[in-house]
Amino acid sequence: NTSTFQAYRASLLHFNDDPAYHANAHHWHEDGLLIVNDGKVHLAGDYAQLVHLLPEGTPVHDYRGKLITPGFIDTHVHYPQTDMIASPAPGLLPWLEKYTFPTERKFANPAHATNVASFFLDELTRCGTTTAMVYCTVHPQSVDAFFGESEKRNLRMVAGKVLMDRNCPDFLRDTAESGVRESEELIKRWHKRGRQLYAITPRFAPTSTEAQLELAGALAKAYPDTFLQTHVAENTDEVAWVKSLFPNARSYMDVYDHYGMLRPRSMYAHCIWLDDADRTRMAATQSAISICPTSNLFLGSGLFDFERADAAQVPLSLATDVGGGTSFSMLQTMNEAYKVARMGGTYLQAMRMFYLATLGGARSMQLEGTIGNFAPGTEADFVVLDPKATPLLARRTERTDSLEELLFAIALLGDDRTVAATYAAGKAVHQRQD
Ligand code: GUN
Ligand code: ZN
Repeated sequence: NTSTFQAYRASLLHFNDDPAYHANAHHWHEDGLLIVNDGKVHLAGDYAQLVHLLPEGTPVHDYRGKLITPGFIDTHVHYPQTDMIASPAPGLLPWLEKYTFPTERKFANPAHATNVASFFLDELTRCGTTTAMVYCTVHPQSVDAFFGESEKRNLRMVAGKVLMDRNCPDFLRDTAESGVRESEELIKRWHKRGRQLYAITPRFAPTSTEAQLELAGALAKAYPDTFLQTHVAENTDEVAWVKSLFPNARSYMDVYDHYGMLRPRSMYAHCIWLDDADRTRMAATQSAISICPTSNLFLGSGLFDFERADAAQVPLSLATDVGGGTSFSMLQTMNEAYKVARMGGTYLQAMRMFYLATLGGARSMQLEGTIGNFAPGTEADFVVLDPKATPLLARRTERTDSLEELLFAIALLGDDRTVAATYAAGKAVHQRQD
């Protein structure tokens, strides 16, 4: 039966490795063909070579002049903070108090949670993001609402209930025991149901008691194929607070290490104020860094150090961190990442930025082979980018001399308007209205 085959003709870009370290890490097919069958990539390559292999009658979608890449992967984002994006505060801790906690309170209401989750996922796919690692709130119903909406769209999403049992308002507080019990129930309900995956989610060390961190670490050990996500070393006031709360820890990261939270499938947002011993531990345990440049600049948290992270070979990826972040677009996130790296004396190639937003994210989450590139058998999540999306982008991309220049222009000038269409498991989940 040939009827489930679909083919897409466009320029194709995807990666098999990190272009900063490996020659031939990228695949580029100027006139390419992506063949999809049953929601998975069947083959990706040159149109001229593959067109003969198409089963009789396969529809060929003509996206010539456009560029298809794997769907973007945003490795750290808060769906409940959608409605408070762009709320100004002098720094992380006052921002949490003034905007974040009152906003998250509303997610006790399942109808509200469903409404925001639906908008959030539409916005992600409008921006070309097909997988994200997502914070819900302390309320288990916020997780049910999120996964329900994700399942409807057949997106591969990772999410979890926030664990928070101190230093927060009563209305957002669980207990060490209830938080872990509810997390375990959610794991049983959602982890690996369709494309949904669960992440154990202690908000950050200051809002969990030692008892809660202990139980969260034990839960992570009991369910080793779940994910774990938290924040670390984002802001200097936060780092000082952690030092006062955990005086015996060698460092902020060492608090998590003590509770067994450094492991494959663990994702640490920010990682600005780490030291080399922290980075070495992360690399040794396959713990990953989620770099959040729009958030770090917006909240004045600091500049991520690409050079030290690379020296230690910690797995890296990019993230929006909305509502601390100021854009849902991974292209805008690349734009800011480039400038953050530049300020630290590092030159971030456009090629590497596209790697970090695709295969880099998949690898950080141990999902290579499932998402992140167009290897045969991977899930057919992809984005169709339009280099002529705006007059300026069209004018600039007509004047590029290399693939690197083309990608750089798209990364620096692109945003949601650049996304002509987004596909998840071979089905269109967004088509731009022209
Ligand atoms: N640290 C603890 N909670 C948060 C949050 O919601 N956003 C950010 N950016 N940092 C945090
Ligand atoms: Zn965050």
